[in-house]
Amino acid sequence: MVATTSGSREGWSSRTAFILAAVGSAVGLGNMWRFPAEAGENGGGAFVLFYIFCVLLIGLPVLLSEVLVGRHGQASAPESVRRVAADSGASKGWGIIGSMGVFAAFLILSFYCVVGGWVLYYIGVFAGDLFQTGLTGGAFEGRAASDIEGLLPGLFGNGGLMVGLNLGFLALTFFFVARGISSGIEWVAVYLMPLFFVLFLAITIYGAFTGNFGEAVSYLFTFDFSKLTGEVMLAAVGQAFFSLSLGVAGMMTYGAYASRETNLGKTSGIIASADTGVALLAGLAIFPIVFAAGLSASAGPGLMFASLPVAFQQMPFGSLIGLLFFIMIFFAALTSSVSLMEAPTAYTLEKFKLPRPVATAIVGVGAAVLGILSSLSFNDMAEFYPLGFIPLFAETNFFDTLDGITAKLFMPIGAILTCVFVGWIADARLIDDENGLDGALHQIWRALVRFVCPIVLTVILAFGLFG
Ligand code: TRP
Repeated sequence: MVATTSGSREGWSSRTAFILAAVGSAVGLGNMWRFPAEAGENGGGAFVLFYIFCVLLIGLPVLLSEVLVGRHGQASAPESVRRVAADSGASKGWGIIGSMGVFAAFLILSFYCVVGGWVLYYIGVFAGDLFQTGLTGGAFEGRAASDIEGLLPGLFGNGGLMVGLNLGFLALTFFFVARGISSGIEWVAVYLMPLFFVLFLAITIYGAFTGNFGEAVSYLFTFDFSKLTGEVMLAAVGQAFFSLSLGVAGMMTYGAYASRETNLGKTSGIIASADTGVALLAGLAIFPIVFAAGLSASAGPGLMFASLPVAFQQMPFGSLIGLLFFIMIFFAALTSSVSLMEAPTAYTLEKFKLPRPVATAIVGVGAAVLGILSSLSFNDMAEFYPLGFIPLFAETNFFDTLDGITAKLFMPIGAILTCVFVGWIADARLIDDENGLDGALHQIWRALVRFVCPIVLTVILAFGLFG
């Protein structure tokens, strides 16, 4: 069952499996945790509208570009880019796009598993609570709201627990990636994504009936253009990239396992719609609950972990809903972390001709070391600023530094280079053969990749760095 680097390469067993895996990669903490937090911090409706705009005009074209390069190359991201370059008579130096991406995916993996650890913690908290209070009551009976909100800071203060949960989540990710494409990564997507969708719909409907749905709708969909500042736009495009797993080789890696019959244009559209749909619905699931409990929408990263559990306290079946809610988040997060781990693993396995479990273990050990540093940056190492000499990262701890350099540097740079490569460097006929688009749609896509995306992204990158 060891994947080889040549000959019969492993691939998705069907187009549906590819779609589920790619949607699994895209739908994750980015949708459930980061999107509502960003929308809340950036004024709601204006952010949401601009976010949708970014997905359509930038995210979707880049997504198609990435899976296309991967499918043509049929290899790890750096090698796929090199093959497309070679087939187009261009320099193999373009492979740097893939190499940077693989490195960035590895960095993201390391801190993504830290947040995955928090999800495990809340599953434990709600499971314990359900056990104590029984099925029908609200969660955390008799405990003060400040007490419940204090759970997250309490966790942050406990370095040992943070590290343990982080490594636990990483170990789960390792387990599935080491098993390979069909019996590991695909298995997770095919079983957990449908379960995720069932839980997700149930909780959204529950939220609509028990929470303040009307206020949530008007908050998310009332567009107040005066709120659309440069900062909000920057946040929206960054969120679109993170949510669609773009700019860092993740989708290239998954595209490489797609079969020649798959229509990539159509498939990219399905992936982007599913991801955006889940993000919007996540907002409609979380904000009614938050508003009904009179909590603040702009709680930021603490919104899902600290505020939401307070809301579950007053709801019927609170501990059960809380438990199901965090199990659902766990499924979404695992199918994403698996994709983050696969990008560097596919590269390591191919480059050093290693059996898959060994390659996965090497990536895992590296991610564990960085993860421990990230986990400790919430407590024992809070004053350690690794890039403190750079003004943008002054007083930024290890976790936030990794988050910052990947979102503000690697993702936009990776995407700009991908657009330039696919739009200008790669052979146009080769690209046409792969993209599955015809007529006007093809023309629009090409114009977006050649002009709109690189220009808009460069402006945004410059703003992010110097603005
Ligand atoms: N898109 C995932 C989320 O929303 C995170 C993720 C998975 C990711 N793979 C990625 C982000 C690759 C960037 C690159 O949670």
